[in-house]
Order: sequence, then C-alpha cells, then structure tokens
Amino acid sequence: MTEEELYITYKGVYIPKMLHPPESLKYYEEFTFRPDDTVIVTYPKSGTTWMQETTSMIQSGGDLTTGLATPTFERVPWLEMFNFFSLNMEERPSPRLMATHYHYDMMPASFLEVKPKVIHVVRNPRDVFTSSYHFCDTANFLVKTASTGEYLDKFLNGQVPFGSWFDHVKGWMNVMEQYPSMSISYEEMKTDLKDSVFRLSQFMGTSLSSEAIEKIANHCEFNNMKQNRMSNYSEAPSGILDPSSFHRKGICGDWKNLLTVAQAEHFDDVYKNQMKDVKYKFVWD
Ligand code: A3P
Repeated sequence: MTEEELYITYKGVYIPKMLHPPESLKYYEEFTFRPDDTVIVTYPKSGTTWMQETTSMIQSGGDLTTGLATPTFERVPWLEMFNFFSLNMEERPSPRLMATHYHYDMMPASFLEVKPKVIHVVRNPRDVFTSSYHFCDTANFLVKTASTGEYLDKFLNGQVPFGSWFDHVKGWMNVMEQYPSMSISYEEMKTDLKDSVFRLSQFMGTSLSSEAIEKIANHCEFNNMKQNRMSNYSEAPSGILDPSSFHRKGICGDWKNLLTVAQAEHFDDVYKNQMKDVKYKFVWD
C-alpha cells in the first residue's frame, strides 16, 4: 500500500492513519499537562520503548511487578496513539509518564504553557534509518520499503512517518534549555545501562539503591525485554505488527550492514549539511 493509503499529513508530517485516528489527535491537542509530568520525546526507532520501560521501572523503585503484568505502552502511553484517551490519564496520580514522537512545533498549547519535564532520547540517525527500514516490513500500518536506496531518499527527505529526523532533533535541541530536561542517547544506554538508570533516576527525583539499579538494568536488557510479553508488543492489537521482530538486534552500528559505501557517503553529506549549525557534538559525530 502507498503513503496516500496508509498515512495522513498532520501538522506537516506523515503519520500512520491506523494508529492515530482524528479523535486521538484531538484528545492530545486538548490534553492538560501537569508540571511534574515526564514526557519522553523521541524520533521513531530511537529507543522509545526501551526508555518507556526504563523510566517506568525507575518510577516503581525497581519493583518489577507492573513491568511483568501491564504492557509498557499502557504504563507509559504515547500521547498521540489511539489508545491514549482510554487510559484514564486524568485520574492517574502524579508524577505521570508519557511519550511522544511529535516535533516540538507540533506540541499542544498546554505543553508549551506548563513546561513539564522532558527526556529527549537520540540515536545515530544511520541506525534509526536501519531500524526503521526493517520495521516497515513487519508493521501493517507502514508502507513497505521497495529498496534501500528508495527508502534512504524518503528518509533523508522526511517523507516518512513523523517527518525529517534532522528537523525533529534540531527542533527539540533548540528548546531543551527552556524545559526541565535531560538528553540521553541510545548509544550511552548501550554503553552503560546502569549508569543511565542512575542518571535518569536523579533527573526523575527517585532515589534508588544499587540493588534496584542492578535489577532495573537487568529487566531492561535487550534479551529480557524481547522475551517479556509486556514489553515486546505481544499485547498490541492483533496483527498490527510482528512482536517477534520488534526487538530486532538492539545494537549500535548495524547501518554498516545495510548501506553501501556510496549510500553511507551520501548520508554523511546530507547529515553534514543539515547539522552544520548545530554546535552540540553527538556521540556518533
Ligand atoms: P533495532 O531495530 O536496531 O534493533 P523504538 O522503541 O523507538 O521503536 O525503537 C526500536 C529500536 O530499539 C529497535 O532497534 C529495538 O531493537 C531497540 N530496542 C528496544 N529495546 C531495547 C533494549 N532493551 N536494548 C537495546 N535496544 C532496544
């Protein structure tokens, strides 16, 4: 199926129709944030689910009970997702956890006014591309990829769900200082998950023992999340994606197995041009 059949253009970017019906988008538009909400901000395939699970377990102080009983996407819902308005967010006690793939300039009025806490997760865009390329073939709400080259052009031009990685990351980086916020990369989490859990817990204001940090890092380790029905999308509505392939490889640098030398060079050229005014040095730069 084509982009025209599977996506709508919302605030300038494609979003999959199947996941984001008009009533969900309206609900998000009118949602009232609280100052102590924590919003996880990611471009798709940057490690959103990993961060949702990690923050949820930090919030529970390392008690894994809910992590083994309730799907990640219900504990830490996506604001723009079809199930969001059925999750009783208004009744949930503070502090609430939630996630979004929106660009900063798509965020609703209450977010801009209330300025809740933000955790911004970034990942090497070459690996984001690679993860996304494979994911397209396993999710029926996404357009299947014809070839790597064709999908690369679409990705670099922002003709994919949630638009341009460059615009998304630059837009959020530009405003992070205006929010109580923390930036963390997928790569940092891969390098040292325990240290990442510690830093996240400090940002979230949750004090954790070293045993709790150890337990959370173990629970959120790739293979454990892959096997946990609550974090591997086994509980997602039947048929929308393949739970066995969501946790695909979970590594850094898999783009080297997908892009040709010429495609990688082209990626670098576009990256350099798009990011030329960004002072921040990412771990992959
Ligand atoms: P790969 O396709 O490269 O394996 P998102 O949740 O934003 O859609 O991101 C999905 C990507 O995060 C996938 O990357 C998935 O395997 C990876 N991921 C999910 N949980 C992970 C974990 N615990 N450790 C490392 N990577 C994880």
